[in-house]
Amino acid sequence: MSSQIDHLLNETRRFSPPEEFAAQANATAELYDQARADREGFWAEQARALHWHTPFTQVLDWSNPPFAQWFADGELNVAYNCLDRHVEAGNGDRVALLWEGEPDGDSRAVTYAELTEEVKRLANVLLGLGVEPGDRIAIYMPMIPEAIAAMLASARIGAIHSVIFGGFSADSLRSRIDDAGAKIVITADGGYRKGRVSPLKPAVDMALADRNGSGPQESVEHVLVVKRTGNEVPWREDRDLWWHDVVPQASADHEAQPFPAENPLFILYTSGTTGKPKGILHTSGGYLTQAAFTNRVAHDIHPETDVFWCTADIGWVTGHTYVTYGPLANGATQVLYEGTPDTPHPGRWWEIIEKYGVTILYTAPTAIRSFMKLGRAIPKQFDLSSLRLLGSVGEPINPEAWMWYRKIIGGKTAPIIDTWWQTETGAMMVSALPGVTETKPGSAQVPLPGISVDVVDDDGVHVGNGNGGLLVIKEPWPSMLRGIWGDPERFKETYWEKFEKQGFYFAGDGARLDDDGDVWFLGRVDDVMNVSGHRLSTTEIESALVGNDAVAEAAVVGASDETTGQAVVAFVIIKESYLHEHSPEGLAGTLRAWVGEMIGPIARPRDVYIVGELPKTRSGKIMRRLLRDVAEGREVGDTTTLADTAVMSVISAQVK
Ligand code: PRX
Repeated sequence: MSSQIDHLLNETRRFSPPEEFAAQANATAELYDQARADREGFWAEQARALHWHTPFTQVLDWSNPPFAQWFADGELNVAYNCLDRHVEAGNGDRVALLWEGEPDGDSRAVTYAELTEEVKRLANVLLGLGVEPGDRIAIYMPMIPEAIAAMLASARIGAIHSVIFGGFSADSLRSRIDDAGAKIVITADGGYRKGRVSPLKPAVDMALADRNGSGPQESVEHVLVVKRTGNEVPWREDRDLWWHDVVPQASADHEAQPFPAENPLFILYTSGTTGKPKGILHTSGGYLTQAAFTNRVAHDIHPETDVFWCTADIGWVTGHTYVTYGPLANGATQVLYEGTPDTPHPGRWWEIIEKYGVTILYTAPTAIRSFMKLGRAIPKQFDLSSLRLLGSVGEPINPEAWMWYRKIIGGKTAPIIDTWWQTETGAMMVSALPGVTETKPGSAQVPLPGISVDVVDDDGVHVGNGNGGLLVIKEPWPSMLRGIWGDPERFKETYWEKFEKQGFYFAGDGARLDDDGDVWFLGRVDDVMNVSGHRLSTTEIESALVGNDAVAEAAVVGASDETTGQAVVAFVIIKESYLHEHSPEGLAGTLRAWVGEMIGPIARPRDVYIVGELPKTRSGKIMRRLLRDVAEGREVGDTTTLADTAVMSVISAQVK
């Protein structure tokens, strides 16, 4: 980490906003002044860009911290804002989704009028199945237009969706369905990934069945299934429904009803520092306000002319805010791609950009680094001249990747915004404003207008320019999480206890302020890893590992990785009896696959080291810092607090 920081400190390149871009930009420098002069008034003005069935008279209620309420006496319908109002404004023929399936030639354009109609029909189907406001709907789908329709239909009837990434295993799906008490699951037979059918419905069946003695799942009454891949799926007549049997037949008359601004919109599970994922809860009015605002000023969306492409899966928060809610609230046209970047060929993304004339690309540093590795010759085969703005999200972007992105993808002219935020923040918090901010490769730079952040020491004291510390958010913001589903105590403990006195939100990220006061993010300071921009908990993977019969103890660390940012590295102690019967290589392979099965392929460790002991303090706490040194091939740091100081040399020898 320290060499990384030194490297960042030497980064002095600056890029001023191109004049042509600035002349047409939605953002202006005045936004900062307006927000500074009257923060709540500023957010109220942004909220008024939405359609309110009942206008709000209150802006922020922070009388019961950390439970905020925004625009609480106002009423709106989130789906109406993303759909009907564009149709009513005469834009029904505008394309909402330019959908591209993974198999070549499989594409479909869906207009705002068509998407609105589909959502109305689906809303009627869900109402017919007895879904009521506040009920939970689990969504486990590939990247197809029906997935977006499912989220919006849930929002339309005041239900709460919980999207579960299609790469998660049956076990992960089960625990999330159970925790939320979902009444309906919406899924597909499968989706296409890496040139193959990746089945989804069979995982739903497994998740709902009696597994590992847990008993059959009880809350789910119906499973609605889109036929996408045509693979054979198990079927239960009393529970399962084909989408094509019920949605096209349903009435397309459905008038969107108003719901209070604080009506829950969705739960999204994310990894924390314990083994149990947290159900992050977001509500309606404040969330949609900040999603739409940031998409307008940071992504600079011009709905009449832009073709926006956010490459995130809807299973992550980026897919919620910048695929479904932000761009659709703004009436934008966007690309939705089902597959992986390298299928059927490594230039697939660039081909899609050329085909649709994508103007704004929003993606993750991991993707950029993998393209960098493949070389510039691949993107150079395509016409990328339509791109006018590039965005990055999910992890720190190193200056080399930033420069490559600018030169090779952005034709040396498109501004780059590095946007910092979290599942918990709901929308962007720190980012340059294109056309306004002079950009710096590697820095997320400045809080957005209306957002107040700082970098502080352990006591909550501002560190001052030139110094590093912890990132905090000082004032409530509209799209902030409203809690952890079913666990208000954990919500307080995780985010608010550390700086209780100051009332700051603790993000869990290390950061540094440069001489201009700009923010440079340095990664997580807790036991959360960031692998390819996906959040994983060390503890969750450790619990999965010790759940295997062969494992006596396990410790997991996130080690730096050139492509994925961090990689999962596991150190495991194997039970004696297994050591005799199996080779270490065989065991390592089995355990990698096991974690993939228990959590999902994204959590599969890059390396599994079989060791005889783990480094522990006298109180029994595993010293992950030392294991990280080993995993990254560094000299092992200070071992004086270890109960047995010799243990690290033994481990280092075993790992080599
Ligand atoms: O560590 C930060 C990193 O990703 C974490 C949030 O992960 P998640 O909730 O999955 O949301 C990711 C997409 C919004 C943060 O705590 N992170 C996200 N964006 C950046 C970042 N780190 C550095 N720079 C960023 N731009």
